[in-house]
Amino acid sequence: MTFRSVMLAAGLVWVAGVAMAPSLNARQKTVWDGVYTEEQAKRGAELYTRDCSSCHQDDLAGDGFAPALSGPEFAAAWEGLPVADLLDRIRVSMPPTDPGSTSVAEKVDIIAYMFKANRFPAGTTELPKDAGSLKEIEYRANKP
Ligand code: HEC
Repeated sequence: MTFRSVMLAAGLVWVAGVAMAPSLNARQKTVWDGVYTEEQAKRGAELYTRDCSSCHQDDLAGDGFAPALSGPEFAAAWEGLPVADLLDRIRVSMPPTDPGSTSVAEKVDIIAYMFKANRFPAGTTELPKDAGSLKEIEYRANKP
């Protein structure tokens, strides 16, 4: 192998890598991949009623002061972001009067309920409760 052919091969590998990058990205897990279970969403619905619906309303439409947790504005706010960011937002600030009153595990179940309300499909594994796994799941309002 000549130096020239090695450089050419390296160049081809680089080009292939660049060409493949977007398709790898497109295969990232999203909220459309069945990332929660029906059972979990049911638990989340009860917790949502207990801790969130007084402001965000039963139908997640918000009350003018508290924003909607479904629909186009909510989707625009979270589009393309990891679900870990959504959990973080809720973890540190919701409910506003006492964020610690709802446990992180309960908040993950509430997110599962929010996903169901936003018509993302349920699957066979629960939405994980650790931030690392939630970083791998992307919020997408529409099926990619
Ligand atoms: C006392 C009323 C109240 C309660 C109870 C409450 N929220 Fe909120 N929530 C708000 C308000 C007001 C905002 C917007 C201002 C802010 O972020 O503080 C908000 C913002 C949010 C956002 C950000 C929305 C966006 O468009 O980015 C999320 C997500 C959220 N709340 C989820 C929850 C969840 C989940 C619960 C229950 C654990 C909850 N909230 C309980 C009043 C409330």
